[in-house]
Order: sequence, then structure tokens, then C-alpha cells
Amino acid sequence: MASKLGMGSLYCMLFLLFIVSQNPVSGRNKVLDPKKPCKQFVLYYHDILFGGDDVANATSAAATNATKLGNTYFGMLVVFDDPVTKDQHLLSHPVARAQGFYFYDMKTDYNAWFAYTLIFNSTDHKGTLNIMGADMMMEKTRDLSVVGGTGAYPNKSNKKQYKPCKELSFYMHDILYNGHNLENSTSAIIGAPKGFNLTHLADPISWFGDLVVFDNPLTLDNNLHSQPIGKAQGFYLYDSKIPYSAWHGFSFVLNTTDYKGSIDMVGANADILGQPVRNLSIVGGTGDFFMHRGIASLMSDDIQGEAYFRLKFDLKFYECW
Ligand SMILES: *[C@@H]1O[C@H](CO)[C@@H](O)[C@H](O)[C@H]1NC(C)=O
Ligand SMILES: *[C@@H]1O[C@H](CO)[C@@H](O)[C@H](O)[C@H]1NC(C)=O
Ligand SMILES: *[C@@H]1O[C@H](CO)[C@@H](O)[C@H](O)[C@H]1NC(C)=O
Ligand SMILES: *[C@@H]1O[C@H](CO)[C@@H](O)[C@H](O)[C@H]1NC(C)=O
Ligand SMILES: *[C@@H]1O[C@H](CO)[C@@H](O)[C@H](O)[C@H]1NC(C)=O
Ligand SMILES: *[C@@H]1O[C@H](CO)[C@@H](O)[C@H](O)[C@H]1NC(C)=O
Ligand SMILES: *[C@@H]1O[C@H](CO)[C@@H](O)[C@H](O)[C@H]1NC(C)=O
Ligand SMILES: *[C@@H]1O[C@H](CO)[C@@H](O)[C@H](O)[C@H]1NC(C)=O
Repeated sequence: MASKLGMGSLYCMLFLLFIVSQNPVSGRNKVLDPKKPCKQFVLYYHDILFGGDDVANATSAAATNATKLGNTYFGMLVVFDDPVTKDQHLLSHPVARAQGFYFYDMKTDYNAWFAYTLIFNSTDHKGTLNIMGADMMMEKTRDLSVVGGTGAYPNKSNKKQYKPCKELSFYMHDILYNGHNLENSTSAIIGAPKGFNLTHLADPISWFGDLVVFDNPLTLDNNLHSQPIGKAQGFYLYDSKIPYSAWHGFSFVLNTTDYKGSIDMVGANADILGQPVRNLSIVGGTGDFFMHRGIASLMSDDIQGEAYFRLKFDLKFYECW
């Protein structure tokens, strides 16, 4: 597997998604039967690593270089937007995109840490699944965790209605560092694809490959200068060749009289489906959000080129403690 990952290569990965049934019984001892998933399907994803001249076909690109720590690409960050099909054929009609990234993270062998979102667009499924974990590439079969999912099934007759146990709404403001706005910038590009620098977003079409770290204020209304109720801290990575999609991993850290604690989130914020509302998985929390899970829906409230954007978040928790 490792040798097939050389520049400009294609590899195909077989996915067996077993989603194990979970009965919401006692808080500490969930009864799981790994032999009985409540849902399962088989998918293939196809990755064509950018080799320098295959812009049209490539679906992934290195956004940072490998370090000198070992000969196994240690430290290289690869961003991808891969087609996912039901069979082994690259050119079959994709039922989903796999968008996200992996880091090579082992000095002595090929091993990568993956975090990505399957964004379904098929007659069977609409919505996302968020997946992460260590991919021990030398093993024939590897397991990753499905940490959350969003979206509804188009088949109305089996669409269940769920009622949130807690809801929150607020705005997040992001001012990108451009080399001249140290005082009020709240985010900075820390990784860019070959040929781009850290004070301008890359490729004007999609910003593909830019990795941005942020410490953004949160406010209850849409005014940047309102008293913040907390921070959003983490990163996003532009992960698509067409505008605009970014993979987010971050936490809201709230500090108000009502709420103290953090809310942790992952997922693809993909504008590509032409849907104004996108959904991330809330995978955990601390403090007043101890062990909470749910869905964070977001929409763009204002975008000023690459200088500033504001997102409106509606958080719905379906597991509260
Ligand atoms: C893209 O892939 C197709 C099918 O594999 C191939 O025929 C074509 O030459 C490739 N184009 C480039 C620019 O690599
Ligand atoms: C919708 O879901 C129900 C229950 O799972 C199933 O019986 C039915 O065949 C589905 N209908 C379609 C059109 O897929
Ligand atoms: C940040 O500060 C600069 C310089 O004062 C100003 O030009 C810019 O408009 C500010 N950005 C925002 C989003 O307020
Ligand atoms: C990787 O290293 C090469 C050669 O040192 C350099 O030209 C290139 O810009 C680097 N790429 C990234 C993404 O930093
Ligand atoms: C970064 O790149 C932009 C254009 O892509 C250029 O205008 C700017 O001068 C560059 N900045 C630095 C510090 O190299
Ligand atoms: C939370 O808010 C209180 C009161 O405004 C302040 O004293 C404290 O430093 C804040 N804590 C954090 C972690 O920001
Ligand atoms: C989703 O699927 C529909 C129907 O096949 C297609 O028209 C549309 O372009 C797809 N959207 C994306 C973003 O792939
Ligand atoms: C996000 O979730 C909302 C509410 O369930 C839904 O209306 C919307 O279509 C979802 N967005 C995407 C891109 O799936």
C-alpha cells in the first residue's frame, strides 16, 4: 500500500462501514453487539495524488512537505476530495465524496491519521458521516471510527423525527491575517500548497490546500463588536477543487453566566451542494456540555472575500447529561 502512495499515483480503498447498533441504556454500560450492525454498506474510494501536472484528474494534494523525521513522509499533510463509488471503477457514478485530510505520523513505517467526511449525494442517502482514526497502512484491513453523522434520508416513510434536548445559537467571526492586520485578525494560514504563501489564500478558485488556525470570537448577534460570549478555537482546511468546502475541527469554548464549558465539533462545511445550511457533528463536550452529542448547523451570514466571514451556528444536542 505504502509504495502505491507515491506522487501521481492512484489508489483505491475498500470501505466496509458497519454501524453498530447502540441502545441508549444506562449511561456507563452501553450494550453493543458488534456482530449486529444496525446499518452497513460497502463503498470504494479513489484517490489520485497530485503529481504536478494532472490538475484535471488529481483529487488530492500534499499541503505540507514531509519532514526529515524518518523516510515515511512523516509530517506530510495530504488534503483530498475523492469520489466514492459502489464498485471498484473510478469512473462509476459517485454516490458520495470523501473530503478531509491525512497526516503521515509514523517515523518507522507508513501510517497516517485520517479525518474526513463522507458527503452522500445519492438516491439512497443524503447527509454526511464523519470518520477519523489511525490508518495502519501496513495492515490489510484497518478500522476507523465513525464519530457522527448528519442529514436525513430522502425516504420519508423511514425518516424519524428527533427532538433536541438542548439548543443554542450564535455567530462566529473570522478575520484572516494578511500580513498587515495583527491587531484585529483572528485566524492565520499555517499551511499552503506548493507555490503559495501564508498571507494570501491559495488558488483563487477554491483555496484548495490552505490550512487555517483560528481563535474566533462568538457573539449572540451578528455584530463583530458585541461582547463575546466565548471563542471558537481550532482549524479548517480547504479541501475541494471547486468552491467552497473546508473540513473543520474545532471547539466552542463558552464562558457566560448561563454556560461554562466546551463543545467539540468535526465535519465538512461543504457549500458545493448548493445548500445554504451545512451540518457538522458535535462529538463531545465538557463542563456544562459534559458528554453532549448532536449536530451543529451553520450558514454563511456575511463573506467579504478572504478578509472576513461570519457564520451563524444553530446547535442542537440530542444527547444531554
Ligand atoms: C485523466 O484520466 C483519464 C482516464 O484515466 C486519462 O485518460 C487522462 O489521460 C487523464 N488526464 C490527465 C490530464 O492526466
Ligand atoms: C422506505 O423505507 C421503508 C422502511 O424502511 C421501506 O419499507 C420502503 O421500501 C422504502 N421505500 C423506498 C422507495 O425506498
Ligand atoms: C481590521 O482592522 C483594519 C485596520 O484597522 C481595518 O481596515 C479592517 O476593516 C478591520 N477588519 C474588520 C473585519 O473589522
Ligand atoms: C516542499 O519543498 C519544496 C522543495 O524544498 C518546495 O519547493 C515546496 O514549495 C515545498 N512545498 C510545500 C507545500 O511547502
Ligand atoms: C503572497 O502572494 C501574493 C499573491 O499570491 C503576493 O501578492 C504577496 O506579495 C505574497 N506575499 C509574500 C510575503 O510573499
Ligand atoms: C470567564 O469569564 C469570567 C468573568 O467575565 C472571567 O473572570 C474569566 O477569566 C473567564 N474565563 C475564561 C477562561 O475566559
Ligand atoms: C447530486 O446529485 C444530483 C443528481 O445526480 C446531481 O445533479 C448533482 O450535481 C449532484 N451534486 C453534487 C454536488 O455532486
Ligand atoms: C443540514 O441539515 C438540515 C436540517 O436537517 C437540512 O435541511 C440540510 O439540508 C442539511 N444540509 C446538508 C448540506 O445536508
